[in-house]
Amino acid sequence: MDTLAEYYNNLDDEGQFEEIHHPRTNKPKLDPQAVQQFVQRQDNARGTFSFTYRPARFEEGWLLDSLGYFFEQRWISDVLRKIKAGKEASVYLCRPGDQVKSALIAAKVFRPRMLRNLKNDQLYRQDRAVLDENGHRIVDLGMLKAQHKRSVYGEQIRHQSWIAYEYQSLRVLHASGADVPQPYEMSENAILMGYIGDAVSAAPTLNTITPDPRELRRLYERILRNIEIMLAKGIVHGDLSAYNVLYWQGGITLIDFPQVVSPASHRSAYQIFSRDIKRVCEYFARQGLHTDHARLAADLWTSYGFRLRPDVHPGRLDADDPADRQYWQKNQDEH
Ligand SMILES: Nc1ncnc2c1ncn2[C@@H]1O[C@H](COP(=O)(O)OP(=O)(O)OP(=O)(O)O)[C@@H](O)[C@H]1O
Ligand SMILES: [Mg+2]
Repeated sequence: MDTLAEYYNNLDDEGQFEEIHHPRTNKPKLDPQAVQQFVQRQDNARGTFSFTYRPARFEEGWLLDSLGYFFEQRWISDVLRKIKAGKEASVYLCRPGDQVKSALIAAKVFRPRMLRNLKNDQLYRQDRAVLDENGHRIVDLGMLKAQHKRSVYGEQIRHQSWIAYEYQSLRVLHASGADVPQPYEMSENAILMGYIGDAVSAAPTLNTITPDPRELRRLYERILRNIEIMLAKGIVHGDLSAYNVLYWQGGITLIDFPQVVSPASHRSAYQIFSRDIKRVCEYFARQGLHTDHARLAADLWTSYGFRLRPDVHPGRLDADDPADRQYWQKNQDEH
């Protein structure tokens, strides 16, 4: 499955089927029989769950695998269209099943590509407990060891933990009155949540919007209020910017939480937090609302009782460079 996932990754997003050949020998990289089985598996599943959206050939199998559980459990009854293909996930507009009252619902389906990209997410994963599909901390030593290794099983656990962090953060924040989509359910590879938008179009991200100058401060304060709720709940977003804020009918919704870290226990939490604040402030500055982001970050951080400490900025270090690794290790030992 590892190589099949890789194979899928190499396919064009729009589903243009390309044979993947070995660059030197020019032979197909995959056993054709394995590919055929993969396609056949999709064909079998197709009988039980059909939808309005016309996916590309390989996307269809992935969708059936990822959303089949929601369909069985009557969380969704149809997939209507793809809202957006992001770096880590594609988000689809779905019609809910009888479990959900609203007219439309969003499904974030994580890409197989994630299995590969997770290697680069060391910064977020360090100092984070590993969560299972129910959002519980994994304490089984074998499983924990596996997730450190580059095994398929280890990657599955990491993948699952990544999704569980997003789902759990949405739950906690939604229950605390933050402006986040309502989470409904998660599966091995997808999260079902409230859809922001209407039947015609999904809410745009804030970076594409030029708000009326009169509503600028209100939007800014609303985002700060959400950041404060996050701090109070022990959550640093980790990838906050106008790209991960939806704007709809004068309101905002924060999205995209798989990389969250804890302000109290992650060693680079303050750097990650201040980068979040900086990016938010930069958006508002471009709109004409200027603030002191460094001061704001420090004030918020300390007012919630977290300590400021002089960590290395991880963005400046290269994990593959032995000198950087040594520097990083020394820095960790000092704390
Ligand atoms: N609940 C939602 N309602 C409407 N649109 C949504 C919702 N969640 C996500 N989207 C849309 O899908 C896009 C991708 O979602 P998200 O940011 O969570 O995933 P991502 O893989 O990190 O994407 P990216 O790489 O673009 O940041 C968002 O930018 C937004 O346009
Ligand atoms: Mg995003």
